[in-house]
This record gives sequence, structure tokens and C-alpha cells, in this order.
Amino acid sequence: MTAAPVLTFFNNKGGVGKTSLIYHLAWMFASLRKRVVVVDIDPQANLTAAFLDEDSIEEIWDSKQKGATIYQCVRPLTGVGDIDEPLLQSIATDLYLLPGDVALSGFEDVLSAEWPNSMADTNLYRPVRILSSFWQVMQMASRKTQADIVLVDVGPNLGAINRSALIATDYFIIPLGADLFSLQGLKNLGPTLKSWHSLWQKRLDNWNSSREFEDFPGFQLPRGKMQPIGYLCQQHSVRLDRPVKVYDKWVNRIPGVYRSEILHQDGDVTVKPADDSHCLATIKHYRSLIPMGQEHRKPIFNLTPADGAIGSHANAVRGARQDFKSLAIKIAQPMGISL
Ligand SMILES: Nc1ncnc2c1ncn2[C@@H]1O[C@H](COP(=O)(O)OP(=O)(O)OP(=O)(O)O)[C@@H](O)[C@H]1O
Ligand SMILES: [Mg+2]
Repeated sequence: MTAAPVLTFFNNKGGVGKTSLIYHLAWMFASLRKRVVVVDIDPQANLTAAFLDEDSIEEIWDSKQKGATIYQCVRPLTGVGDIDEPLLQSIATDLYLLPGDVALSGFEDVLSAEWPNSMADTNLYRPVRILSSFWQVMQMASRKTQADIVLVDVGPNLGAINRSALIATDYFIIPLGADLFSLQGLKNLGPTLKSWHSLWQKRLDNWNSSREFEDFPGFQLPRGKMQPIGYLCQQHSVRLDRPVKVYDKWVNRIPGVYRSEILHQDGDVTVKPADDSHCLATIKHYRSLIPMGQEHRKPIFNLTPADGAIGSHANAVRGARQDFKSLAIKIAQPMGISL
């Protein structure tokens, strides 16, 4: 069986709702009978904290068990060992988590150091194995669970951990707020992704034409596809005291910047996000449903009257279910996943 497609939510601007989106989409794909593996590559481990309570996380981290977190999987590579098989947390039917780890930040320097080494003439196996280690782990997790989709959360930066995460990615989505910072973030993101893509292709060529290549039959590397699926506008990140006109001003610039920086297309764009085929959705501000979901450790669309979702909240829960279902369907299609 071929491994499942990998989808990463990425923006170097923080707090745009990446983690919340992945959490909800993971539950939605699972409820649509797709087998989901969620991988938390953000050393802040917020996604892990959304799925598991603190006692469970402490137990996982303190156990330092082989493969218990993304860091435990790749940690042996920092010595003389090899990647450990991921030990996945079963969250619900068809929903698995490879937990994040604050210790992963220590891997940043290792990845930075191996990046130039992977362009050398000799001794390439170790650098390319390390640089592709997240992908190798995802492949193992995907095969082990016979997953349909792998969802990846990363932190808000353009560092070496995220470079390796993006190399491992088939598809990515950019969540955006409607403000100067999000737009500026998008302008940084485009050239960075483009250079990561082309620099990885050079490393693939270097490896494929190396003498070592023959010595490691069966060893595979990610192709670094990194195909953009679209962007999402997040309403919750808008300051409530700002006039609507200011929201419109920033949001209406997104289609043009997305085309020039991410798709590398020229020309004036007058289309607004609401009519833009690259805008996957405008994510609503779900207000009190969000803390309610966090308290009950549930996606907001699974909240019940017993959780406090009564009256207008119950309607909002139904609305949220429809919103995330539509979004999941929209995302699945370009990834070739049939729902
Ligand atoms: N649709 C929404 N409605 C209301 N609040 C939301 C919504 N989505 C996210 N939030 C809240 O916004 C905050 C930031 O969200 P989240 O942590 O998902 O962003 P992030 O992009 O992952 O942040 P970081 O860059 O730090 O990883 C959180 O407090 C979250 O609960
Ligand atoms: Mg996050």
C-alpha cells in the first residue's frame, strides 16, 4: 500500500489558528471514515495538548519510551542509532496521534548542521537520512495504520525543523488572519517555500547521482512536492474593535499576494476572497464554543447539551459541523481522497 498524502498547515505568522484547524479537521476526517494520523512537529506541542490531558502527556514525555513522541522517533539519529518506529496514541476510531515534544527543539541544530553536509560529494547517507527523518517517521506511521491522510502541525517560524517538515509534505494550506502581519508573513513564506523546494531537489539529485546511492537499495527520500491547496481566512484573529472596512482592506489584498508569492503568477487581481477559488473558506469566530470544546477536550461540532451547548449554542454546534464538513470535502478533493 502506498503511504497516505501528507498535508501541512503552515504560516510563519503565529496565532492564526493552525492548531485549532488541524484538531477539528482530524476529527472531521475520522468521522467521515477516513483513517487519520496527526503528527505534532511544533515543539510547543499545542496540538498534543488539545488531544491529551496533561497527566497523559507528562507520562509520555517522562517515559522516554522508544518512538513515543516525534522527538523520540528521531532522537537515536543524533547518536549512532536509527529512526525508531512511532508509537501512536489511539485517540478515537480512525484517529491516531504521534505526540509532539518540547525536547524536539534540540533537533533544530542537528537539522541545520546536516543541511550543507547533504550537498557534499561523499558521506551523504547520514545527512539525507536525518533531513528526511520526519518523512520517514510519517511513512512508518502511515503504513502501520493504513492511513488515508497525514495531518501535520508546525510552529510559526521558518527554521530547520519546519524546513524538514515541509520537505515531507505533499500538500500545504496557509491559514491567514486579515491584518498587515498575515499579509507580510505570506510575502516571507512564498520565497522561502520556493527555495526549500528547489534546494531539496538539488539534494535529491546529489544523492541520486552519488556513489552511495547504490549501497542503499530500498532507501527512499521524499520528493518534496509541497503543492499549495489554498488559503483560509480566519475571522477570530481580527480585533473586534476594528471597523469592518479595515478587515476588508487587508482581506481583499490576500488573493493578489497569494497568487504572486505562492503561485508565482503575475498580473492584477481584483477577485475578493469570497469569490476566489484559492480561498478554501473563511473560518468563523466560534466564540464561546472554543473554550467549551477545550474544556471538554472535544471538537466544537461534537459538543452536546450536557457539555453546555444549549439554545443558540446548539445551533452554532450544528453550523460548525457543516462548516468543517464542507472544508474537509474541499481539501480532500485536490488530494485525491474520496469521501
Ligand atoms: N475559529 C476560531 N474561533 C475562535 N477562536 C479561535 C478560532 N480558531 C482558533 N482560535 C483561538 O485562537 C488562538 C490561536 O489559535 P491556534 O493556537 O490554533 O493558532 P496557531 O496558528 O496554531 O498558533 P501558533 O502559531 O502559536 O502555533 C487560540 O486561543 C484558539 O483557541
Ligand atoms: Mg499552533
